[in-house]
Amino acid sequence: MTANDNFKPADTNLATHFPAGFQWGSATSAAQIEGASALDGKGPSIWDTFCGEPGRINDASNIDVACDHYHLFREDIARMKWLGLEAYRFSISWPRVQALGEGAWNEAGFAFYDQLIDALVEAGIKPHVTLYHWDLPQALHDSMGGWLSREIVPHFAAYAAEVARRFGAKVASIATLNEPWCVATLGYETGQFAPGMRSRKAAMQVSHHLMMAHGAAIQAMRAVTQTQLGVVLNHTPAFPAEPIEADRQAARIDDGLNVRWYMDPIFRGSYPADVIEHLGEDAPQIEPQDLTLIQQPLDFLGVNFYTRSFISTQTPAVPAPGKLGFTDMGWEIYPKALTQHLVRITREYSPPPIFITENGMANADELVDGQVMDVERIAYLKAHLAALAQAMDMGVDVRGYFYWSLLDNFEWNSGYLKRFGIFHVDYSNQQRVAKASAHWYRALIEAFGSASRGGA
Ligand code: FCB
Repeated sequence: MTANDNFKPADTNLATHFPAGFQWGSATSAAQIEGASALDGKGPSIWDTFCGEPGRINDASNIDVACDHYHLFREDIARMKWLGLEAYRFSISWPRVQALGEGAWNEAGFAFYDQLIDALVEAGIKPHVTLYHWDLPQALHDSMGGWLSREIVPHFAAYAAEVARRFGAKVASIATLNEPWCVATLGYETGQFAPGMRSRKAAMQVSHHLMMAHGAAIQAMRAVTQTQLGVVLNHTPAFPAEPIEADRQAARIDDGLNVRWYMDPIFRGSYPADVIEHLGEDAPQIEPQDLTLIQQPLDFLGVNFYTRSFISTQTPAVPAPGKLGFTDMGWEIYPKALTQHLVRITREYSPPPIFITENGMANADELVDGQVMDVERIAYLKAHLAALAQAMDMGVDVRGYFYWSLLDNFEWNSGYLKRFGIFHVDYSNQQRVAKASAHWYRALIEAFGSASRGGA
């Protein structure tokens, strides 16, 4: 496929630590790779709008073209096949299949996903679908305030049921939401993400509506499909910077807002009392039965893990030690937290089988003589897979791993400045080049395949 096709990484013993049937995958999302933002009947999403507002995106870019995956998906599937991927996680753009988020379905939009799914299945790759990876139909935001309103819940459930009815029999799983914490907190409290609001009260209300929409969607999909249903949460375990009470308490609240705020209603049917108290006036309005709706049985839990939060109450804050370094996002590399966290949530929540639905790093990759020697990413992958294997040895039930991301892509408010892909993308001509990490991952999957077939 590329000049460094023969690149053979030394260490693939890691592969033998994973059980037969483990799914090796990679993940992307619609808004970040598809492009074709106004083609074939697609309506605008809040991210299309957000990109058009000055100062929102660090490189002033937009998602009109992105990786042009809408046109190049067959080639991209050939890349997945070359990697040996067993599974691919992607998202459906709601405004592509229903321009306004209510009313008429867009058949041309559904046709795109139909072809994508068929091509994946044909290539022997299991499709794992996410319904909401942040590209809310702008029309729903305009008409009812989008996630700010409870009225969105039945619309999301109707969209979920339609996708499940059409594709349920062909796909391996459907997840309702990707990272509701990011949607609520970054979209409505810090304003870094679309729609760019800044109100904690609004954010917490949004988080509750997201949870309700998740529950209603699971319920609606159960009626029409047998496929595996779940949700994808981003977990950034909080560590007190120093062994002092103030840091411990702050870490507890941070964990409460990021982890327990979503895990508790889904798996226990309640919001954590300490977080409700901490929020005071900003706590969401909850109606009777809301929590019953949210607590639906799930077939899997998707966990996205990148880093930990290092919580200091001192001024200036005690910085994270970063013994293994920091990624190009400035995120501390701390794989140990993955093991600890998976063991913890298994003990505390007895969740259904887990998929690591995202894990990866942004790196300042450079294309030199047709090659990208991203040794930092290989080290990151190795360390996190070792941490994952350790959690599994300790009894955590993990069924698959999806590297984020297959391609360099639009990294939200960072635009195209941050590269997470195992394939390098030249945005001027849409050329993809397998980075050294792609060769490494391919060799790992190959070694896993021969080990699980009983070979060397
Ligand atoms: C996650 C998002 C994903 C990507 C990675 C880096 O929070 O789900 O779309 O941006 O971070």
